Amino acid sequence: PPALLLAAALAYLLGSIPFGLFLTRLGGAGDIRTIGSGNIGATNVLRTGRRGLAAATLVLDALKGVAAVLIARRLCPGDATMAASVAALLAVIGHCFPIWLGFRGGKGVATGLGVIGALCWPVGLICCAIWLAVAKLTHISSAGALAAFLAAPMLMPVLSAQPFRSPLCIATLLLTLLILLRHRENIERLIAGKESRIQLGATPQK
Ligand code: G3P
Repeated sequence: PPALLLAAALAYLLGSIPFGLFLTRLGGAGDIRTIGSGNIGATNVLRTGRRGLAAATLVLDALKGVAAVLIARRLCPGDATMAASVAALLAVIGHCFPIWLGFRGGKGVATGLGVIGALCWPVGLICCAIWLAVAKLTHISSAGALAAFLAAPMLMPVLSAQPFRSPLCIATLLLTLLILLRHRENIERLIAGKESRIQLGATPQK
């Protein structure tokens, strides 16, 4: 249906806005792709030492995911759950593979948390709490992200009361697979004990 296609296309385009890149450039912090891990996400923006820019990147990357899901529901009132699920996935795909950056984008954590929150807010809330708690405990952002997104496909069927084979649960599972794929190198470094640390409460590591 045209409305679903429109919702999917808008979700991809929204997801592909590289806020981390824009904000670091506007803030005079250089090209984020040449700093730290080279990732365009909030964790890497934090490595510039600019906490405000990192927080803004996190919020805006999450909000573009929320917006994609809300717009999809509006555009397809007859099949809102299906549209929201497709848009959720497309927004994160847009963030990870943006057409503007030669399909080399981010790892999908902030946008993923945004879409999960918009799909089912209790799952979003718990995933954010897991992400923050694990990142704070370990000082490793990717560990928090991996813990949160491993929990999401288990929490979604329980808290949304939708069956495993519903679009909502399938989209959540695919989202987790995408985020795991995008964290391949982080997972290798975690296993080798070489993953870089971040400081959430003190001066960030350069
Ligand atoms: O949000 C991405 C995070 O999980 C890892 O980022 O820059 O440490 O690879 P980075």
